[in-house]
Amino acid sequence: MRIAIFASGNGSNFEAIAKAVEEKRLSVQIASVVYDKKDAYVQTRAKKYNIPAYYFNFSTYQSKESYEQAILEQLKRDKVDFIVLAGYMKFIGRVLLQAYPNKILNIHPSLLPQFPGKSGIADAFKAKVSQTGVSVHLVDEGIDTGPILKQMCVSIDKEDTLESLTEKIHRIEHHLYPLVIQEYSEKLFKQLTNKADDNLQ
Ligand code: GAR
Repeated sequence: MRIAIFASGNGSNFEAIAKAVEEKRLSVQIASVVYDKKDAYVQTRAKKYNIPAYYFNFSTYQSKESYEQAILEQLKRDKVDFIVLAGYMKFIGRVLLQAYPNKILNIHPSLLPQFPGKSGIADAFKAKVSQTGVSVHLVDEGIDTGPILKQMCVSIDKEDTLESLTEKIHRIEHHLYPLVIQEYSEKLFKQLTNKADDNLQ
């Protein structure tokens, strides 16, 4: 199965996935990286793994639809089976949702439905809850909504700072995301092969 990873910034989750592929803990091919912020560090990480990275500048498109249409054409050229969002800070619109139904995964640094949005870790820390976590879910038209595939809890201890909590969350993310991607790609692969069998009968 071929995936595209969408990111907007640092790309540590991209790197955790790329490393898992390299170490054969994850049997997908990363066809490409799509990013939407010119200086996103993820492009440097992609180079290190020899993975093509494409920059799409939203402000140069007339609409969300034309922006996503351009991305979709690239995904088709790269024969991408499903999309993995890893710190991609834009909501996914109609064009990509229709092209990839139930085939877009996202990771979010909280126990959804708590603390959605761009600052899930800080929001949980400020709220002084005793535990937060990481969620991997399928993407729908909402922001960090959609069916949850897997969650892991992270405790917020008295001595935690925002920095130590961020570190704990990222460690869990880097462990969890490759596992869920592996499971989900096996499921999609089965669906595809069953469909192919049905077509033959
Ligand atoms: C990750 O913590 C991810 O869960 C979060 O962005 C970070 C990206 O880090 N995503 C969201 O908040 C989505 N709403 P990375 O660029 O180092 O992978």
